[in-house]
Amino acid sequence: MARKKLGVLISGRGSNMQALIDAARAPDYPAEVAIVISNVPGAAGLARAAEAGLPVITIDHRKFGKGADAKHLFEAALHQALEEAGAEIVCLAGFMRLLSGSFAGRWYGRMVNIHPSLLPAFKGLDVHAAMLAAGVKIAGCTVHYVSAEMDAGPIIGQAAVPVLAGDTAESLAARILAAEHQLYPECVRRVALGQAH
Ligand code: GRF
Repeated sequence: MARKKLGVLISGRGSNMQALIDAARAPDYPAEVAIVISNVPGAAGLARAAEAGLPVITIDHRKFGKGADAKHLFEAALHQALEEAGAEIVCLAGFMRLLSGSFAGRWYGRMVNIHPSLLPAFKGLDVHAAMLAAGVKIAGCTVHYVSAEMDAGPIIGQAAVPVLAGDTAESLAARILAAEHQLYPECVRRVALGQAH
């Protein structure tokens, strides 16, 4: 079995990246992490990836300046690094840059994201506090293909997580994160096998 090569993009602690790395330790997992790229220098996830013996690269978006040109150059560098690593599937794992429609188009059907809500509800940032404020009783997480619109591409998989009395944004986030770590590798498995629709 040829394992699909994953390019994992991170900006922070990289716990979902770690879940993918751990899943890929199983010999029958149909994918392996080929490269980890952070747009944030010193992101904690970089050290975790390096510890796992994986190639890591930092592509600091701030080095490209500001504006549309800067985004284009940043994404060109990202694309080149992914291609050079032979990435076949791109996994956004807490990657905090909004990607352009043209980048999303280039990787469409081969780029996935994990988001800590049951999409299409609660897109964007600070969703845990937003869910508590809305009083939802069931929260969860979603893995979806990345499209030009944020948090809106076709859904691959979801897991439901209860909201408990007394939850804070932090306690809810921790409960959802544990579900994310199960869901992401499972969905990426299906994408790698061509079974994610
Ligand atoms: C996760 O909650 C993920 O759903 C969201 O960003 C967070 C990243 O956490 N997109 P980590 O870096 O994977 O620990």
